[in-house]
This record gives sequence, C-alpha cells and structure tokens, in this order.
Amino acid sequence: MRDRLIVGLDVSSRAEAEAVVEELGETVSTYKIGYQLVFSGHGLPMVEELSRAGKRVFLDVKLLDIANTVEKGIEQIARLGAAMVTIHAQGHAMRAAMKAAAGSDLLVLGVTVLTSLDDADLADDGYAFGVADLVRRRAEMAREIGIGGLVASASEARDLRAILGPALALVTPGIRPAGSAAGDQKRVATPAEAIRDGASHLVVARPIVGAADRKAAAEAILAEMAAA
Ligand code: C5P
Repeated sequence: MRDRLIVGLDVSSRAEAEAVVEELGETVSTYKIGYQLVFSGHGLPMVEELSRAGKRVFLDVKLLDIANTVEKGIEQIARLGAAMVTIHAQGHAMRAAMKAAAGSDLLVLGVTVLTSLDDADLADDGYAFGVADLVRRRAEMAREIGIGGLVASASEARDLRAILGPALALVTPGIRPAGSAAGDQKRVATPAEAIRDGASHLVVARPIVGAADRKAAAEAILAEMAAA
C-alpha cells in the first residue's frame, strides 16, 4: 500500500517541503509536486533531490501544447528522474508524451476533464460533449494510445476502471478519511471507498500535510487502504 499513497507537497518553500518529507520518513514513498512548489523555484530541484533519496515523485504539471513541445518537455522530465507526470488527455499530447517517455520509467498520466468543470463550462468552451461523454471519450482514447493511466475523481473511478481494464493506473485525489474536513473538495471519497472503486493510487495533501501528527495520519490512511 505504501507505494499507492501519494502525498501532495502543497507548500511554497523548500524548507516546508523538506520538513514534511523528513517527518514522514519511511512511511511515505511517493510525493506530488505541483505548480505551487515548481513556480517557487524549488520544485524541480526537489524532484532530483527526492529521487536521489529513493522517493518517487509525481510531477503534476498537466502539460498541453503542440506535439513537438510536449515531446521535448516530457523528455526533460524523464531525465529529471520524476516517476509520474500529468498531461491533458488530448490525443496529440498523449501520443507525443508516450513517444517521449518510451524507454524510460516515467509513467504518463492523463487528465480527462478537470474536475472543476461542468457541462456548462464545456459548452462555453465550445465542446459538443458534456463532462460524462468527454471523460469517456478521452479515457477510451487514452487506452487505445496506451498511456500509463488517468487522474480522476474517486466518483469517476468505477466507470473509468471498466474502460481502462485492470492494468492502467488510476490516480484519485479528493480523498478524505471519515470525519476529516473536506475543505474546497466537493466530491470526496474515503481511502477505503477509492480503493474499492478501483483506484491504483490515492493523492492526499491536507489530511496529512495539515495534520498535527503527519506520520500518524499517513499510517491511519495506509491501514484503511490495506483493510479495503
Ligand atoms: O489537500 P487535498 O488532499 O485536497 O489535495 C489534493 C491534491 O490533489 C491537490 O494538490 C490538488 O491540486 C490535487 N488535485 C485535486 N483534484 C483534481 C486534480 C488534482 O484535488 N481533480
């Protein structure tokens, strides 16, 4: 279970990030680094530092650009030593990313439709599909292209697992142990629910990073995942 829990380093300084990693020690093997830490200037050096220390890094930068630019970006991310990276699950970007990641251990994860968007947002943006249809369409395309997996809310996990089959990664944020504060997350699932619905990895930030005893919080989540 340890390798299926990803702790989001949603902090702005290297000192804070290193304090979290130090406190969690051997309990946690995988960390997510996103825009906040990357654009503080500390994120990319930390990808290398954590990888050297034997940790796996999920670089959540949701790339989307022309194929050539995605390809060159993914090549550099593979060289940095990141274990997982996110891109938007559009056909040209997924094909370019998979070409660039070939021969490396980098797991490319697609984001189908951002969970903050609804049908009206997609219509405003000029899409002919609602969220459910676009998620399904992109998941099918991701499977055909042979991407490493998808990031999705736990509420979508069951349907997506049916489309993806058993082998692909399915990474779910929005995880809240029973009784913990949802914060700004609207659709949350407990660690046990997410595992039962087919998630391969859980992303958890505030319930661990914001806990008074981070190690105990992570251990409790791992125990709940194992029991499920
Ligand atoms: O603090 P919390 O556990 O809610 O953090 C979840 C992490 O997963 C955050 O870094 C957030 O940006 C990320 N995420 C998410 N929902 C998505 C995609 C990513 O919460 N759909």
